[in-house]
Amino acid sequence: MSVDTASATKQESEVVREASRRRTFAVISHPDAGKSTLTEALALHAAAISSAGAVHGKGDRRGVTSDWMEMEQDRGISITSAALRIDYADRVLNLVDTPGHADFSEDTYRVLSAVDCAIMLLDSAKGLEPQTLKLFDVCRARKMPVITFVNKWDRPGREPLELLDEIEQRIGLRPTPLNWPVGIAGDFRGLIDRGSGTYTKMTRTPGGAKKAVEEVLSADEAAKAEGSVWEEAGEEIELLEALGADFDHDSFMAGESSPVLFGAALPNFGVGQLLEAVVGLAPPPAPKPDAQGRPRPVEKPFSGQVFKMQANMDKNHRDRMAFVRISSGRFDRGMVLTHAETGRPFATKYTQAVFGSDRSTIETAYPGDVIALVNAQALAVGDTLYDGPKVVFPPIPSFAPEHFVVARAVDAGKYKQFQRGIAQLDAEGVVQVLTSDVRGEQAPVLAAVGPLQFDVVRHRMEHEFRSPIETSPLDYSVARRTDTESAPALHALSGAEVLKRRNDGELLVLVHNKWRLRVIERDHPELFMEPLLAGG
Ligand code: G4P
Repeated sequence: MSVDTASATKQESEVVREASRRRTFAVISHPDAGKSTLTEALALHAAAISSAGAVHGKGDRRGVTSDWMEMEQDRGISITSAALRIDYADRVLNLVDTPGHADFSEDTYRVLSAVDCAIMLLDSAKGLEPQTLKLFDVCRARKMPVITFVNKWDRPGREPLELLDEIEQRIGLRPTPLNWPVGIAGDFRGLIDRGSGTYTKMTRTPGGAKKAVEEVLSADEAAKAEGSVWEEAGEEIELLEALGADFDHDSFMAGESSPVLFGAALPNFGVGQLLEAVVGLAPPPAPKPDAQGRPRPVEKPFSGQVFKMQANMDKNHRDRMAFVRISSGRFDRGMVLTHAETGRPFATKYTQAVFGSDRSTIETAYPGDVIALVNAQALAVGDTLYDGPKVVFPPIPSFAPEHFVVARAVDAGKYKQFQRGIAQLDAEGVVQVLTSDVRGEQAPVLAAVGPLQFDVVRHRMEHEFRSPIETSPLDYSVARRTDTESAPALHALSGAEVLKRRNDGELLVLVHNKWRLRVIERDHPELFMEPLLAGG
């Protein structure tokens, strides 16, 4: 064996070993379910930080997500996402943050293309809420394994069996509880681990600023300490056993069943069990299929895909960052990669690990890790970077827009800036840009999954591209893909309009609403219309 081959083999085995330590996941939830609190609690439990509140929070606490836009601060929401690295039990957990606002943006969905597992976080009093449902649809389309955490058990909420039933009935995901609460929501005493039968009694610490005091009790001790609620929990567990609601690895990996854990993030109840579940059950990075559908083994030379672009995170540097999820190989800062879409070299001298608003320079990273490349003007969402022989990953699917506006430059003299800005925002995937001969280039239609995306466009057009725009909403809420044969007939119908998506040339028909769509489908079955699928 030559020296080169020997060192390549050594690096391959290092990459395999490091990849197998990674668990890359996101939390999907509705605003206020407790995502920030849980993130903080996970980091706390993993001893990544010394006290809750230092990592992710609101108000006077320092936020993980950056404050890259004043607008974001004004509204108290986070538009950007970041990745949080948690070292725990010889594993590296990469928690990729999904934006926490009530609005739906494509950004949120794209994050899910960069993770291998999701934690579905539910508020015990509210169960499945709209944003969780939407995000879950993306997980389902990608057949992604989902771990469920029922949060806020320290507060009055619903019956645990009722919540399980809701999960099964509404989203068809078979719940398999890993632990079971003793005491109803609001009178939370502790958790029974269904695997080992161990009962852990929990006592809240003042303010929840430290880990909850946990005490393992024998069955006799527990019966004495908890009385009737202990018996009730035992009966419910017997019922679960009779129903066969036991963890099943294959159906979990196929996204058909979901291990469920109960707890409360704020006082740190059950957070340790959740962490153990992520470490034990979430899959390590798997070979990612390339555009030809060939899975690329993790030990191959470096490859990764841009899943998010972000501008102006740092007001002092008008930079553009590309967030890349690594699929294969080892990343060393300074490597010169190839940008698959243009064939051009991409230097990675300035690379950062993203830990909330702290940016630290990263030297080495492995499959499953997220790196942020600075000065990434040439890159766009979905692009591939690689080292060695060429590889291209399939595009990240774009999602069905539901909001449409016409954009015009306020000052016609700034048309050049207007065009440049719109083209840039299109490339970044901030919105989808649609045009047609009828409307002309001066008045493109912007399409978004959530209206907040338009606020981002207006803000950036004014402050970054120096071309303020005015937008007027269009009365459409549904988009379908169509083709050149059907386009003229569809365009001629009332309540419908055909436009071309600029970034891929796809023809989209916009329809007033879904009832109008149904009428068109019924009256014109010969016309081609296809849903724009979420996920993929
Ligand atoms: P989000 O990121 O999903 O939007 O939720 P966040 O963590 O901000 O939590 C929303 C609210 O729910 C917060 O209260 C938080 O303290 C509370 N919360 C989260 N987990 C638990 C839990 O396990 N038990 C209880 N009782 N409350 C929980 P807030 O009053 O809106 O905000 P704050 O002023 O306390 O930060």
